[in-house]
Amino acid sequence: NVLILDFGSQYTQLIARRVRELNIFCEIKPYNHLPEDLSEYKAVILSGSPFSVRGDDAPHPDLSQIKGKKPLLAVCYGAQYLAHFNGGNVAPSNTREYGRAKLSFIDHSESFFEGISEGSQVWMSHSDTIKKLPEGAIKLASTHDVENAAYKLKDEDTYAIQFHPEVYHTTDGKKLLENFLVHIAGVAQTWTPDSFVETTVAELKAKIGDEKVILGLSGGVDSTVAAVLLHKAIGKHLHCIFVNNGLLRKNEFQSVLDQYEGMGLNVKGVDASARFLDSLEGESDPERKRKAIGRVFIEVFDDESHLVEDAKWLAQGTIYPDVIESVSATGGPSATIKSHHNVGGLPDYMKLKVVEPLRMLFKDEVRRVGASLGIDKELLGRHPFPGPGLAIRILGDITREKVAILQEVDAIFINGLKEWGLYDKVWQAGAMLLPVNSVGVMGDERTYEKCVALRAVESTDGMTADWVNLPYEFLQKTSNDIINKVRGVNRVVYDISSKPPATIEWE
Ligand code: XMP
Repeated sequence: NVLILDFGSQYTQLIARRVRELNIFCEIKPYNHLPEDLSEYKAVILSGSPFSVRGDDAPHPDLSQIKGKKPLLAVCYGAQYLAHFNGGNVAPSNTREYGRAKLSFIDHSESFFEGISEGSQVWMSHSDTIKKLPEGAIKLASTHDVENAAYKLKDEDTYAIQFHPEVYHTTDGKKLLENFLVHIAGVAQTWTPDSFVETTVAELKAKIGDEKVILGLSGGVDSTVAAVLLHKAIGKHLHCIFVNNGLLRKNEFQSVLDQYEGMGLNVKGVDASARFLDSLEGESDPERKRKAIGRVFIEVFDDESHLVEDAKWLAQGTIYPDVIESVSATGGPSATIKSHHNVGGLPDYMKLKVVEPLRMLFKDEVRRVGASLGIDKELLGRHPFPGPGLAIRILGDITREKVAILQEVDAIFINGLKEWGLYDKVWQAGAMLLPVNSVGVMGDERTYEKCVALRAVESTDGMTADWVNLPYEFLQKTSNDIINKVRGVNRVVYDISSKPPATIEWE
């Protein structure tokens, strides 16, 4: 196990993902919540930070239990922090030190840079620079602008680098992490999807025994993988509930339910469409729509779970990015842009114990674990779909007729992406039904009908996104199909806004 101490860098999660790609388990902890028992950690990595070490409010944790006692790798701010507190000198830099740079000098007498040559590209992002190294420190690398790009403290396994090994643009970043973790710190590369499945199934068996577990399936990757893991551990004691809120994609409820049954899951499909659609009647405010759907979901789920006699556990598909304690640069909570409704908001009175088998996994790891469990590739590669479904893609109030129109449009778009081999190149796609009618002409007749907007984005986590440059021929064919086949739609537009400032969903 490797400990990553977070100083608030935007790249901290990336460090963890790179380490996991080396099949090494690691955990992120905020610098001000250093675990008391450090014995299980074989090595420690210090992250970057938006702070300057010279600032009064900068993170200055006590590292006396770590430095010199365990292999330590300090990145960016971490490197400056070590220099600052060990007799070096950190000051604002005169030249810009952002973006690409090339290593112009490397000390190859140290195994740290083994297999990495001069000229290798690294990614810099810092405004302070290390002017003078600590007493006795050994310079390991430089770039044209940054003299002390990497160094080592004498007589201890403490390494520091000014650049970011975790970002894609640092060509040999992963190799460097491997050199440090595997060759210097001697950490074993045993964290694989298969070993995760094996140990997690054993843990779940021991923890749950023959008690009953309830799990809400959504059709998405996380809840599905959580269900299959639990099923492997406790079989029929897992009771899955899959709710149709009437706002899913066309035919989705039945086809996903069939798939779940095909996997041998003990699943109950509950068609509560009418209850959801009735609760949304006349509602056009996005946040109130979300709240109504969240409320009805809890009611339905609660009713259903009471039918499972003597259930003791509630299972959830929570993943690691949802549980990492983060260091906030401003100290305050971030603004709520949209309230995301998930199973997380279940009422306290359900008094169930919670089990979250995926809480230590990143999304890409969930997919790899799913593949190792034999879950269908197509299911694992599905685009994300929001909990409130088409309700937040129908701008304005929602009627059954509008849902039916949007389901048709969405199906043409998504099936087209699949047929053209574009589906896997897109992170998320969908159609929005706009609350405007526009004039058109079909045959000799004037029409006055609805407009739909298509949206397809590239992203890694939904936090930032860019629109996808879909081929014109594809857009042309899709637009024709939609206008010819879907009654009530006479105009199609394509959304070319990035996030930020736009969001992925229109509501
Ligand atoms: P935005 O629109 O905020 O979306 O750019 C980012 C990602 O979150 C999804 N999304 C939601 N998911 N409940 C959900 O479960 C919601 O209320 C919700 N709103 C947005 C969106 O589909 C995208 O993947």
